[in-house]
Amino acid sequence: MSIFFRKFIIAATGLFLCIFLIVHLSANSLLLLPEASARGLYNAYSTTLRENPLITAVSYLLYLSIIFHVIYAAIITIKNRKSKGTGYRVNHKQENSTWASQNMGFLGVFILLFIVVHLVNFWARVKLGIGESVGLDVDGNTDVYEITYTLFHNIYYVLFYILLMIPLGFHLHHGLKSAFKTLGFYHKKGLRVLAKISLVYAFVMSIGFGVIPLIVYFK
Ligand code: HEM
Repeated sequence: MSIFFRKFIIAATGLFLCIFLIVHLSANSLLLLPEASARGLYNAYSTTLRENPLITAVSYLLYLSIIFHVIYAAIITIKNRKSKGTGYRVNHKQENSTWASQNMGFLGVFILLFIVVHLVNFWARVKLGIGESVGLDVDGNTDVYEITYTLFHNIYYVLFYILLMIPLGFHLHHGLKSAFKTLGFYHKKGLRVLAKISLVYAFVMSIGFGVIPLIVYFK
């Protein structure tokens, strides 16, 4: 399998995951509202998504994207490591010389750790019914807000969620730039604009997701 094909899969799935994060952050920003309105809105939104067959289909695409992104990224990282010292590298050092670009695999491991813990915290309980059962709110919707509220009143989880947004930010910054390049959008003219978009995107995502646990903690 060619290096380009592997890089294409990483870039395409990565872009899809970036779009998911925009939607996910927008939905989770409901948690910043005062509790009286946040609970009802967050739970109603979450129920609407879960009951929509089209969104369910997109969710499966999301899980596949995470799996393929991780597998192909792991293959490229391992190949890069092996080719070190042989005079051949899959990634050219001069082109990709930032700290994040040299450590995407290392950053990715932290993000994978975050996603596993995060899915156990929420997804496994809400979607698979694994772990402590989740109650209903006054409107009869699954009380996902309560899980969030309880989790983010535990200082260790708050710190975990905030700290893990640092590698996420670095990974998204380099990853988005890299995806634009692989998919052919990164021409000399637009280089600065796309680099700025990647920086702003990574900043908004990491600060946005990092601020939510902190604000909920003080609610
Ligand atoms: C403040 C931070 C976050 C909160 C409060 C949060 C909350 C949630 C909740 C409640 C769910 C379950 C949704 C449902 O089924 O109703 C969920 C699912 C998920 N979250 Fe997050 N999330 C946060 C950050 C993140 C981040 C940073 C990532 C990725 C790096 C992420 C990735 C996912 C994924 C992949 C799912 C499964 C989606 C699906 O089944 O369709 N989340 N999150």
